[in-house]
Amino acid sequence: MRGLVVTGTDTGVGKTVVAAGIAQALGARYWKPVQAGIDEETDSQCVARLAPGATVLPEAFRLATPCSPHEAARIDGVTIAPGALALPPGDGPLVVEGAGGVLVPFAPDLLAADLFALWGLPVALVARTSLGTISHSLLSLEALRSRGLEVAGVVFSGDENAASEAAIVRFGQCRHLGRLPRLAPLNAATLADAVRANLRIDLLA
Ligand SMILES: Nc1ncnc2c1ncn2[C@@H]1O[C@H](COP(=O)(O)OP(=O)(O)OP(=O)(O)O)[C@@H](O)[C@H]1O
Ligand SMILES: [Mg+2]
Repeated sequence: MRGLVVTGTDTGVGKTVVAAGIAQALGARYWKPVQAGIDEETDSQCVARLAPGATVLPEAFRLATPCSPHEAARIDGVTIAPGALALPPGDGPLVVEGAGGVLVPFAPDLLAADLFALWGLPVALVARTSLGTISHSLLSLEALRSRGLEVAGVVFSGDENAASEAAIVRFGQCRHLGRLPRLAPLNAATLADAVRANLRIDLLA
């Protein structure tokens, strides 16, 4: 496994927690290319806390405002050029976390999925299990595939919803990579245990 992009159907769906779990299980490097919002714990700080066995690479851009990267960059007076978002060199698998969902703008003419296509890595989609997830998930899968991206599968986040999960996998013609339940407490030990018990890391390695 050269690398994997972890994207989601939306912001706040659990991309960072899933990416941390995968990075820890694979002993991978983790990279968040654009962090928009730095007042609260950043995604990289969260992964360093939840995945002590992962190597957290520095972000390419750290922007002040917690909003879409293209707007956060405009506010900070920064230009995000695709060339500045080239995959970091180095050995070992790389887990890359997008920002928000699949069609979030990174620059005036660059959407997240366009960036994934430039990188050429397979993409795992993190999806909620709650009401509304079927359409969001299928739309996200269509947007990824319309750019020729390889879909590694869907990781579900939240309480089991067998019917919704089955519908997404069937209509989306994709692999079910497992479901991470809500963890309380959420820490490195509980996450590692939950990943071992619930996620198909073997399909990613
Ligand atoms: N399996 C889980 N168990 C407990 N808490 C979780 C779990 N997954 C996510 N959370 C919590 O839900 C919130 C959102 O999760 P997370 O930060 O992973 O989402 P995200 O998709 O990466 O968001 P963003 O778009 O901001 O990067 C966080 O507070 C996180 O700790
Ligand atoms: Mg995140």
